[in-house]
Amino acid sequence: MSDVTGVLEHHDDTVVTVRRDGETLSIPGELVVSMRVLSDTPVRISAIRSLEWAAGRAWPGLEQHTADGWLLRAGLGHSRRANSAVPVDRHATLNAASVAAIGAWYRERRLPAMITVVERVIPAAHIDPTTLEMPTAVMVRSLDPIPGAGVGLPITLADQPSDAWVRTYAGSRDCAIDVDGWRSVLCAVRDGVVGFASVEADGELIACGRAAVTADGDGVSRLGITALWTAASRRGTGIGSAVTDRLLAWGRGQGAESAYLQVELANTDAIRLYRRLGFTRHHTYGYHTL
Ligand SMILES: CC(C)(COP(=O)(O)OP(=O)(O)OC[C@H]1O[C@@H](n2cnc3c(N)ncnc32)[C@H](O)[C@@H]1OP(=O)(O)O)[C@@H](O)C(=O)NCCC(=O)NCCS
Repeated sequence: MSDVTGVLEHHDDTVVTVRRDGETLSIPGELVVSMRVLSDTPVRISAIRSLEWAAGRAWPGLEQHTADGWLLRAGLGHSRRANSAVPVDRHATLNAASVAAIGAWYRERRLPAMITVVERVIPAAHIDPTTLEMPTAVMVRSLDPIPGAGVGLPITLADQPSDAWVRTYAGSRDCAIDVDGWRSVLCAVRDGVVGFASVEADGELIACGRAAVTADGDGVSRLGITALWTAASRRGTGIGSAVTDRLLAWGRGQGAESAYLQVELANTDAIRLYRRLGFTRHHTYGYHTL
């Protein structure tokens, strides 16, 4: 068995056509065992771990612990990101000892032992990538040149999200929602800074986004953009792009050297938008409960 890496031109049940080094290869369908989308440029596994460190610090939950190279996070069960373990060190692997340590830590907190299965860091042989929950792409872009800052839109930046912001992120305007708990998880950042962008019209929140600048595993400052949202009736009018640009400019001002964001693979509209804004695919991850 061998790999063919190239640009996929066509595939159906009978044939897969790939362009490689200027020639087109046609591979009979029955010989194809699996197909995988690769990052836009070659990415080292160490760079993936390093970026996951920045993302872990940018959404760390309220309590953290490191065990066997994993960063364990807990945050009231609010959001998968704040309540999962992520492999950040080169020693991190899935073996009996790490599974036991992660399981015990989450059991003590009455939370499911959820892990972030990061592409290539956790080999596909350990957990079948097609079984993962919420498969997500991590996309990156440089902060040079600095983008324009939200031309023509009154975008405010604050160090705390408003109640409306929190309720929008938590996906509910329900009065019973734990606004303070969600706010504490959203504001949490480890050794970094966090900012919340809001756009209002007629006293209503119509768009928002969160940004955090934290150090990656090599000590380089990275900007992580999360929680981008535009009210459904306002989509497609440039607000999301303007909020992203504003957060990119803010991150640059905070000393970040590059930016990343995480987007579910199923969210193809958002991925298209991020590509237009200069983001390219770095790696993927998904969640698995032990
Ligand atoms: C993704 C999102 C923030 C984009 O906001 P927006 O204000 O519509 O963004 P813009 O107007 O600047 O850009 C629109 C682009 O997004 C795409 N898009 C995504 N969802 C869209 C929708 N429901 N309506 C219109 N355009 C949409 C369009 O295709 C367009 O891309 P194009 O310019 O290449 O054609 C918004 O669609 C949204 O809130 N989606 C739900 C929450 C979400 O998925 N957030 C991203 C999490 S990573």
